[in-house]
Formats: sequence, structure tokens, C-alpha cells
Amino acid sequence: MEKTLIILKPDALQRRLLGKIISRFEEKGFQIIGLKMIQISETMARQHYAEHESKDFFEPLVKYTTSAPVIVMVLKGKNIVEIARKMMGATFGFRAEPGTIRGDYAVSNRFNLIHGSDSSAAAEREIAAFFHKGELFEYQPADFSWIYDLSTGNII
Ligand code: RTP
Ligand code: MG
Repeated sequence: MEKTLIILKPDALQRRLLGKIISRFEEKGFQIIGLKMIQISETMARQHYAEHESKDFFEPLVKYTTSAPVIVMVLKGKNIVEIARKMMGATFGFRAEPGTIRGDYAVSNRFNLIHGSDSSAAAEREIAAFFHKGELFEYQPADFSWIYDLSTGNII
């Protein structure tokens, strides 16, 4: 099982879309193992998006990321990094396919509602940056054996 870090960005909170977005991941069958509201500091934003430091959109990106509270959550599921990125849709709202979160609710290149880790290694790093160990919960989802076929001893 894989984990990913999701951030529901300032526009998701301001536009009252938190519940709708969280529901999509719940309904897909993913498990929420950590969730909290925080306001991302400038230092955290710069660190989180460090790969984009040299880009012309870096400063506006930091400003956007820190402009209002966000929800950060850790989700768990098989192949979740890849699936969550598919559910989010392409980076730019106007390019994201209908049916995806960005495709259904965003039009902007920057205000695109949601962040998701882009690899398992990035997820591990980002989870450690945003959550203490005690804020993450191990529990057996009640419907686990209906989300996956466990009858062969594997998670299918
Ligand atoms: P994220 O990291 O937030 O999950 O988004 P992503 O992987 O789909 O896209 P990425 O290339 O990592 O870009 C990070 C965030 O920067 C903003 N952005 N603005 N040209 C622009 O003004 C521009 N390009 C990117 C977006 O908010 C994007 O999610
Ligand atoms: Mg990215």
C-alpha cells in the first residue's frame, strides 16, 4: 500500500469545495490516515515547491500557497500516487479533462485547487514535512475487503 500527500489549496477552502474534493477520494475507496487545517508558512511553501525556485511563477506560487488556510491530508491505497494525480487532472485548470477535480472546478493556470505528490519518494518527503508521526493513524477500514479482492492473499 502506498501513501500520498494531498493539499487542498487556499482556493479550495475559499470556494467551499473541501467537502466535494474529499468525498471524491473517500468514494474512490482510499483511506484517510491523517487530516488537518493549517496555514502554510512562507518557509514551508518555498521548501515544498523548491523544484520550481528558478521559474518565473515561483513568487506568485508562494504567495498563493500561503494566502489562506489549507487542508493537508495523507491518503493510503494501492497505487495511490498515480491514481490521485489522475483524479486531480492536468496542472492547468483549462487543460484538465472534465471529470477530474481540476477539470470540473478550475480554469486557472495557478489557482488549481489541489496538490498531490508526484512520486512515492516525494510523498514520503512531503508527509514527513507536514505531519508528525502521532498525527497519522493506522486502522483497518471497515469496508477494506469490499474495496479490494483479498481472497487470494494479495490485494487485488
Ligand atoms: P502540484 O505540485 O501543486 O501538485 O501541481 P502539479 O504537480 O500539477 O504542477 P507543478 O508543475 O508541480 O506546479 C506547481 C504549481 O505551481 C502553479 N503553477 N503556476 N505558469 C504558472 O503560472 C504556473 N505553473 C504552475 C500551479 O498551482 C501548480 O499546481
Ligand atoms: Mg508538482
